[in-house]
Amino acid sequence: MARITLVRGDITEQSVDAVVNAANSSLLGGGGVDGAIHRKGGPEILEECRALRASRYGRGLPTGRAVATTAGRLPARWVIHTVGPVHSAGEDRSDLLASCHREALRVADELGASTVAFPAISTGVYRWPLRDAARIAVETVQATDTAVEEVRFVLFDDAAYAAFAERIAAP
Ligand code: APR
Repeated sequence: MARITLVRGDITEQSVDAVVNAANSSLLGGGGVDGAIHRKGGPEILEECRALRASRYGRGLPTGRAVATTAGRLPARWVIHTVGPVHSAGEDRSDLLASCHREALRVADELGASTVAFPAISTGVYRWPLRDAARIAVETVQATDTAVEEVRFVLFDDAAYAAFAERIAAP
């Protein structure tokens, strides 16, 4: 099981092997984490995303799946793009959010990454409530067998940090 750490900060500034991107199925960029990673990482990332769209993911990356590209100018080696579920009051999509974390760790293992930074996937534009997202994220990482040594949750604001810290402290 990976050691879990929390950081209050910007995921694009993390010196880790792999940074997980809260992408959308198009893999062609967006706002939030996605926008920050492409803006700071530079065009190489989008070039590799376009190549993935032209080959393995012609119809886009499905929700809950993960795929790696270069990290371009970021202090990381790879970006692992994953597509979180949009929160729905009527449908329980928890398994898809859990899958984002499991699949990102599986891709990290394929790459040989030993440190991986995760944002709070789906808790921004996709409106997933922070505490529930923190529960799913932490429980999934704790339950996943991986060679990754450190999983670093990088939280962009105090509310997200508090939600994850509370979950880490929970028995
Ligand atoms: N570093 C770390 N966390 C960040 C950063 C950053 N630079 N920027 C935003 N965040 C946080 C947000 O505050 C939120 O808690 O990441 C979390 C996820 O928010 P979003 O980036 O909006 O991602 P998500 O909710 O998964 O929605 C994905 O948004 O940006 C588009 O293209 C993306 O369509 C996709 C959708």
